[in-house]
Amino acid sequence: MTVRILQFGTTGQVGIELLRQAPCHDVALTALSRAQADLADPAACAAAVRAAAPDLVVIAAAYTAVDQAESDTAAADVVNGEAPGAIARAARDAGAAVVHISTDYVFAGDKGQPYREDDPIAPAGAYGRSKALGEQAVLESGARALVLRTSWVVSAHGKNFVKTMLRLAGGDRPLRVVDDQLGRPTAAADIAGLILAQAPRLAAAPVGAPEWGVFHFANAGEVTWRRFAEAIFAEAGVAKAVEPIATAEFPTPARRPAYSVLDTGRLEQVFGVTPRPWPAALAEIVAELKTEGAVA
Ligand SMILES: NC(=O)c1ccc[n+]([C@@H]2O[C@H](COP(=O)([O-])OP(=O)(O)OC[C@H]3O[C@@H](n4cnc5c(N)ncnc54)[C@H](OP(=O)(O)O)[C@@H]3O)[C@@H](O)[C@H]2O)c1
Repeated sequence: MTVRILQFGTTGQVGIELLRQAPCHDVALTALSRAQADLADPAACAAAVRAAAPDLVVIAAAYTAVDQAESDTAAADVVNGEAPGAIARAARDAGAAVVHISTDYVFAGDKGQPYREDDPIAPAGAYGRSKALGEQAVLESGARALVLRTSWVVSAHGKNFVKTMLRLAGGDRPLRVVDDQLGRPTAAADIAGLILAQAPRLAAAPVGAPEWGVFHFANAGEVTWRRFAEAIFAEAGVAKAVEPIATAEFPTPARRPAYSVLDTGRLEQVFGVTPRPWPAALAEIVAELKTEGAVA
C-alpha cells in the first residue's frame, strides 16, 4: 500500500532529504512550505491535516534558531510547542499516524552517560523548553505518534556545523572550536531514510503498539565539536589547524548541553535499525559538497 504522507517543512535539512528520498519509497508525499502552512498559525496547520487526510504526518519544520529563541520565546513556543500539538490532534481525528522530530536539547546535558528515552528532561534554554512543550503536546494528543529525538543534524544543505567549518576554513589562524561538548552527529539523510523506510509500518501500527512514544536516533559514535571539526577538514582534504577551547570561551545567548549523547537502543530494538557511524555519514556529505563545488 502506498503510504500517503503529509510533510510540514520543505526547506530544512530533514525536509529536503525527505523530498529527495521519497521517490525511492512506496510513498506519496505532499510537502507544505511555510507559505502553505505556517506553524505560527497552529489552527491553519490542523486544517491542512484535515484537508489532506493522510496516512502519516511528518513534522520536519521547527523554530530552530537556538540563540534567537532566548529573546523570541513566545514565537518559539507557538511553532515548536503549540503547532505540533494541533497537528497531532488533527492527525488523531483523521486516523493518521505522526512522526514528530525533537532534540537532545530537552536534556540538561549533565548525565555523563547516554540519555535514554525515559530519562527526565530538563532543558537548559528556551529552544529546548519549546521543543519539550511540543513533545508533550504530541504525546498527549491521543494520536499514534512517534517522537524522534535526534542530535547535531548535518547535511550538504541548509545551515549546519559541517558547512560552517568549511566556510571558515580559509586564513592562516587556527580555528578555535569548543572541545567540552560531546554528542552524536546525525545526517539529515539518515533521519529521512529511517522515517521513509518505516512509513508503511507506522501507517499500519495500531494504538498501543511498541512503535509509539519517544525514540532516540543519532549516528553511532561520540565526538566533541573540536574533534568533529578536525574530522571534517580531514575528510575534505583541507589543511586547517583547530584549537580546542572551552564553552565558556565562546559565549552564546543560549546555554548548550555539555553532554548530548543519545542512547539509540530502543529504536534499534523495536525497529531493528542500526545507525551507521557518523564518519561514514560525514564522508557522504563532504562528497556531495565536493560534487557541488562547495569544497575545493
Ligand atoms: N539542526 C539540528 O542540529 C537539530 C538537532 C536536533 C534536533 N533537530 C530537530 O530536527 C528537526 C529538523 O531540523 P532541521 O535541522 O532540518 O531544521 P532547519 O534546517 O533549521 O529547517 C527548519 C525548517 O522549519 C521551517 N520553519 C521554521 N519556522 C516555520 C514556521 N513558522 N512555519 C513553517 N515552517 C517553519 C523552515 O522553513 P523556512 O525555510 O521557511 O524558514 C525550515 O524548512 C527540527 O524539529 C529540529 O528541532 C535539529
